[in-house]
Amino acid sequence: MKKVTKAVFPVAGLGSRFLPATKASPKEMMPIVDKPLIQYAVEEAVAAGMTDLVFITGRSKRAIEDHFDKAYELETELEMRGKADLLKIVRDTVPSHVNCIYIRQPEALGLGHAVLCAESVVGDEPFAVLLADDLLDSLGESPVMRQMSEVYNYHRCSVLGVMNVPREQTRQYGIVSTERDNGEVQRVSGIVEKPKPEEAPSTQAVIGRYILTGRIFEHLRELTPGAGGELQLTDAIASLLREEAVLAYQFRGVRYDCGSKLGYLRATVELGLKHPEVGAEFAAFLASRV
Ligand code: G1P
Repeated sequence: MKKVTKAVFPVAGLGSRFLPATKASPKEMMPIVDKPLIQYAVEEAVAAGMTDLVFITGRSKRAIEDHFDKAYELETELEMRGKADLLKIVRDTVPSHVNCIYIRQPEALGLGHAVLCAESVVGDEPFAVLLADDLLDSLGESPVMRQMSEVYNYHRCSVLGVMNVPREQTRQYGIVSTERDNGEVQRVSGIVEKPKPEEAPSTQAVIGRYILTGRIFEHLRELTPGAGGELQLTDAIASLLREEAVLAYQFRGVRYDCGSKLGYLRATVELGLKHPEVGAEFAAFLASRV
């Protein structure tokens, strides 16, 4: 039985909500405490058994390649100074059995187009998509992508990570309708990108975690511009639905929208409080402030 081993990380986005921080460096490299966003997503994928990581990159994204590459000078320097703990941190950004592949997306035409850029590497296999903006803390449960892989292994069809959002926020997400309105795993009957609250078929929003079958590429190739004039992954999934089953999975854990300033600050506070080195002092500091 073939497992999901390939993960696609669309990282070509402009990050305009974080300008000027993202003028010359990728938003995916912004740290939450001491780890860049992209590393949280990579660790989640690796914990789910992914061994081929495909980054869809663009301009000003070289720092991501450097981050997951060997850093000879830094490693030699740390070795010479006997800093074994730091050396381990630097070397462990990605385990040695994992393969990183970089594909340039020449133009930012939308998430659907970014995923289509991975076709030559992914081929006809099921694969995962992780959006690093969405930072998921599984609160001690197994990492969210692993939860989703288990759902995939059981049902053998595409799986979308979903959560409930307030109706006034539907405009920020892909929204699914399902055959039933409760249960951890449900069959998707429709999906629409960024509907107005009054038009949204439900309040179940897709967060940036997907497992898709290779059939999605057929549908991605036929996309025409959708919401915001972009080639939308959501529209390709809507089309895939007519051909095969797609599941919505209510993941166990908390999601931080690190594509927004407020979500980013929340993640920083929550993960700062849990941080083994600074958590206790940070908690005392926060208590003194409120
Ligand atoms: C993308 C997807 C959307 C999904 C969201 C999750 O939107 O297009 O369907 O709900 O990610 O974060 P974006 O946030 O890139 O506009």
